[in-house]
Amino acid sequence: MEILHVSAECYPVAKAGGLGDVVGALPKYQNKLGHIAKVVMPMYRTKFLYEHEFEVVHKGAFGMANYWLDYTIIKQVNNSLGFDLYLVDIFGLLDREKIYGYGDDTERFTAFQIAVVDWVSKWKHHPDVINVHDHHTALIPFIMKHCFIYRNLSSVKTILTIHNAQYQGWMDWNKSNYLPEWDKWKWGMLDWEKNINPLASGIKCAEKVNTVSPGYLGELMHEANGLEKLFEYERGKCFGILNGIDNEVWNPKTDAFLEYVYDIDDYKEKKAANKKILCDQFNLDESKPLIVFIGRLVGEKAADLLPAVIGDSIYYMEGKMNFLILGSGDKAVEFQLENLQNQFFGYYNSMIGYNEKLSHQMYAGADFLLMPSRVEPCGLNQIYALRYGTIPIVRRTGGLKDTVKDFGEPGGFGICFDIASVGDICNAIHRAIELYQQKDKVNKIRKHIMKIDHSWEKSAQIYINLYNS
Ligand code: ADP
Ligand code: GLC
Repeated sequence: MEILHVSAECYPVAKAGGLGDVVGALPKYQNKLGHIAKVVMPMYRTKFLYEHEFEVVHKGAFGMANYWLDYTIIKQVNNSLGFDLYLVDIFGLLDREKIYGYGDDTERFTAFQIAVVDWVSKWKHHPDVINVHDHHTALIPFIMKHCFIYRNLSSVKTILTIHNAQYQGWMDWNKSNYLPEWDKWKWGMLDWEKNINPLASGIKCAEKVNTVSPGYLGELMHEANGLEKLFEYERGKCFGILNGIDNEVWNPKTDAFLEYVYDIDDYKEKKAANKKILCDQFNLDESKPLIVFIGRLVGEKAADLLPAVIGDSIYYMEGKMNFLILGSGDKAVEFQLENLQNQFFGYYNSMIGYNEKLSHQMYAGADFLLMPSRVEPCGLNQIYALRYGTIPIVRRTGGLKDTVKDFGEPGGFGICFDIASVGDICNAIHRAIELYQQKDKVNKIRKHIMKIDHSWEKSAQIYINLYNS
């Protein structure tokens, strides 16, 4: 089967979060199963672009509103990622340093999607499935089915993978002329509550839809940032498939970012050695339990609660723990987290920004990873933590609920709580500190979680089954 993944992110080419990790891994594992999976994404100005060789495979042009845009498709020459990688270059629009966050993101990603469809329409054959990811690519099923010039693709099957339904890509109807001439009787396939809603359009037009965990799909019927009724109506074609992790990238035994690599037999000393390096670097005390947070500093992740949680925990639990935060996002939260550095020097530290290497070192060196998310479609951090023998402290929601079981339950290994409030999070931290004192129990848990298999093999096959259906 030939599958084309279309995405805004793909690790290690360009990544802002878990979407990049998934699109950098799933196609590789689908290829290992004997299929042909390819990835196409925008050509940003990233390090990867300059460090690898590319060849031009196609040049084309299309109209968007009053503009005529030329595009070029380039392909990585040596296939180092385990799949064919294609980048779409649209001069001035896509070739920027950041992935998102520009005032013209709507124009950028609409142009990207039209270019992809235009390119595929010129192929001599058709792929079996086009798997689009999130709202940045969710107009593709509509474009293929209802834009007159791409009617030759109308029978090609599409699947929309929803990594996050909070973001939907809303566009005002006055931008409807961005799309190539389309069948106006089909306006309802674009509309949701008087806007063009790319995510809603993808849910309506794709043959199948999947979320990145079964738990999240269940939640979307009740809470989907306005799309609840649509999920309810389309539930027959929606499926939840739990993300895997790329065991080749996330492996404490081979991880090139770590000073001390380790495995189940020698994790005790090596994990402690990694912790010492982190603690020295950030002025923390290695004898105390180290609790880390890695992620986007946004409301979904309950990052706004972190300053109070850190302050209250250190104050009321008499500094029995250390905190280290890595993240970026909401400027007010970044500011508060930086300010706390002076107040709780020796107990807390943070690195505001994005740092792939440090994230690996933190998964390895920490004792606990905190994820108090309000919304978590899957969450990869907690799965990485498990693989690195770090105990996750999570709120029971979405994919966190599907992957972490409280150590108080039979067969449990993590720390779970229900409400994203300062009190409940502090209570969970208190349980972590008490657990930390019970060395034998902690070691038993670490040994257990490092062995849990969350590799992509199984989930990659479930995607194939869904395509086949
Ligand atoms: P989301 O995609 O919602 O951000 P996930 O848990 O699925 O959440 O994935 C987050 C990914 O991004 C993980 O690979 C995590 O290590 C990484 N990440 C998030 N923030 C940072 C950061 N500031 N520096 C390095 N890696 C980060
Ligand atoms: C999204 C979600 C996250 C998920 C990731 C990869 O960014 O917020 O929970 O793990 O996509 O699917």
